[in-house]
Amino acid sequence: MQLIQTAEAMRDEAEAARRKGRRLALVPTMGALHDGHRALVRRARKEAGHVTVSIFVNPTQFGPGEDLDTYPRDLDGDLDALETLGGVDAVFAPSAEEMYPLGAPQAWVEVEGLTDTLNGPHRPGHFRGVTTVVAKLFHLCRPHVGVFGEKDAQQLVILRRMARELHFGTEVAGVPTQREADGLACSSRNAYLSEEERAQAPVLAEAVCAAHGLIAGATEEQPAETVVGRMRAILGNAPLAEPQYVAVVGARDLQPLDAIVPGQDVLAATAVFFGDTRLIDNVFVTAGSG
Ligand code: PAF
Repeated sequence: MQLIQTAEAMRDEAEAARRKGRRLALVPTMGALHDGHRALVRRARKEAGHVTVSIFVNPTQFGPGEDLDTYPRDLDGDLDALETLGGVDAVFAPSAEEMYPLGAPQAWVEVEGLTDTLNGPHRPGHFRGVTTVVAKLFHLCRPHVGVFGEKDAQQLVILRRMARELHFGTEVAGVPTQREADGLACSSRNAYLSEEERAQAPVLAEAVCAAHGLIAGATEEQPAETVVGRMRAILGNAPLAEPQYVAVVGARDLQPLDAIVPGQDVLAATAVFFGDTRLIDNVFVTAGSG
C-alpha cells in the first residue's frame, strides 16, 4: 500500500495503473475510518483491480461554526486500519495546500437543483465544497468507479448528477449504510456523543426503519405526511433529540412529496441534533415493494 501525498504523484500513479489496463476504484474519505468505510473498501475491491482510498478533511465543505477544527484526525491509525483490512493499493492523503494551492478555492463545481432540499438549506455551501473536492479527487485519481455510502444519501445523488453532467466517465456506486449493533448508522461524528446521547441516538434508525415499513407497505396512494408524522413521533421519544428536518422526498430529484404512490422510488431522511452533534440517517425504498 503506497502512501501518496502530492497531487502530481497521485496523477502519475493513477496514469501508470491505467496504462497497465487496470480498472481503478476510488473511496473518498475524511479519515477517522470506521466499519462504514471498511464496507466501501470491500465494495471497491469487488468493483476494480486497483483501489485508492483518499483521506482528506476538506475545509471547503465545513460551514462557519461547524466542526472542521475538532474533526477527528488520525492518519497513522487510518493507515494501520487499511493495512489490516487489506486490498488497498494506494492511500492519497494530501495537505490542504496541495488540494487548494491558491488558498481559498478560485474555481468551484456546483450542482444545481438537488442542493436546495434536506441538508442544503441547513448547511449553506456544504455541497459546493463536496462537489468541488470530489471533482478534484476524480481528476487526480482517475477512477472508473467512485464508491460512496448511502448514509450520505443526498451527497450520493448529487455526485451521481455531477459525474454524469460533467462527463467524468466515472461511475458513482452507493453502498448500503453500515450500522452498529443497536442500529445507529456508523459515522465518525458518533464519537462526539456523550454516553446519554449515544444511548438515545438509535432513535434515528428506528425512525427511518419505521418509514421504510410504511413506504414499502404502501400498496395504495397515501399522504407523505403520514410517514413524516410517524418519524417525528418516534424521534419525540428521545428527550435529547432535536430534529432539524424530517422529510420524504423523491429518490432522484430529492423534492418533497405530498403523496406516496406505489412504484415510486422514495428517500425518507432526517437530521437530528444531540447537543452540538448533528447526525443524519435515511433510507431509499420503493413504495409498495412489500
Ligand atoms: O463523505 C465524505 O466523507 C466526504 O463528504 C467526502 C465525499 C470524502 C468529500 O470530502
